[in-house]
Amino acid sequence: MQITQSFIEQVVEAVKSCKAIMTGAFTVMQKGNASNLVTTADTAVQAQLKALLKAILPSAGFLGEESEEKEALGTRYWVVDPIDGTSDFARGMRLSAISVGLVENEEEIFGVVYCPYTEEVFHAIKGGGAYCNGAPIRVSDRDLRHALIFTAFSVYEKKFAKPCEDVMRALYPAIDDFRRLGTASLELCYLAAGRGELYFELRLFPWDWSAAAVIVREAGGLIGTIDGAHLRHDMPSLVIAANDAENYARLKREVERHIPVLPYTE
Ligand code: IPD
Ligand code: CA
Ligand code: CA
Repeated sequence: MQITQSFIEQVVEAVKSCKAIMTGAFTVMQKGNASNLVTTADTAVQAQLKALLKAILPSAGFLGEESEEKEALGTRYWVVDPIDGTSDFARGMRLSAISVGLVENEEEIFGVVYCPYTEEVFHAIKGGGAYCNGAPIRVSDRDLRHALIFTAFSVYEKKFAKPCEDVMRALYPAIDDFRRLGTASLELCYLAAGRGELYFELRLFPWDWSAAAVIVREAGGLIGTIDGAHLRHDMPSLVIAANDAENYARLKREVERHIPVLPYTE
């Protein structure tokens, strides 16, 4: 589909309108293990976005993290994380983001990631460049020795933490440092904006990475997974991203050495 400037502005407006929910009162509940939280703000942001996005593009399906039921998605659908970084959010950490991606024929074509605390809006259209608050962004040209890696240790499935630690332990002497911000979509946008160079997480859901994937690619970076696997919208994926092909290949090699096959199927 043709994505116009007016369409982008409407989506950004819809996303920004949810700031009021994120800065208001909320209640925290446990969703899975003790680390997996959901708040009343997560569900309220999702409900508001679902209605607003439906009005903007009535033909599109909707895949949101907090949806109870699976809907038939069709060939074009929104992929929404109403609050990415819920643990940060529940702790008042001001590092969370709203992530809205648009997928067409299983390909990410548009993404918006908004941090209401910094007022940074990252967006990209496939083939149209990547932007932060309207200004073009580009990945850095730092080599591995100066690279910062964003990562996480599979917080919701701690049985998968060990191989993640192994990858980090192997890479650490060769890089600058690592960061764990707790908000995958924002970390990927930071990579796109040249603030970090590498990203690895063993098990990410489509709402964590779909919007940011377009932003990373359009900023000149690479995002993908291990050989024989695919970044999928119907199950979690191992996600690798980097600022350039050399760093990407090195990270992928290290990940495949420790995780030759995905340890999960759903
Ligand atoms: C989580 C965050 C976190 C990542 C987890 C995600 P949530 O999303 O993006 O950085 O490490 O894998 O599930 O649960 O806060 O929306
Ligand atoms: Ca998330
Ligand atoms: Ca979330």
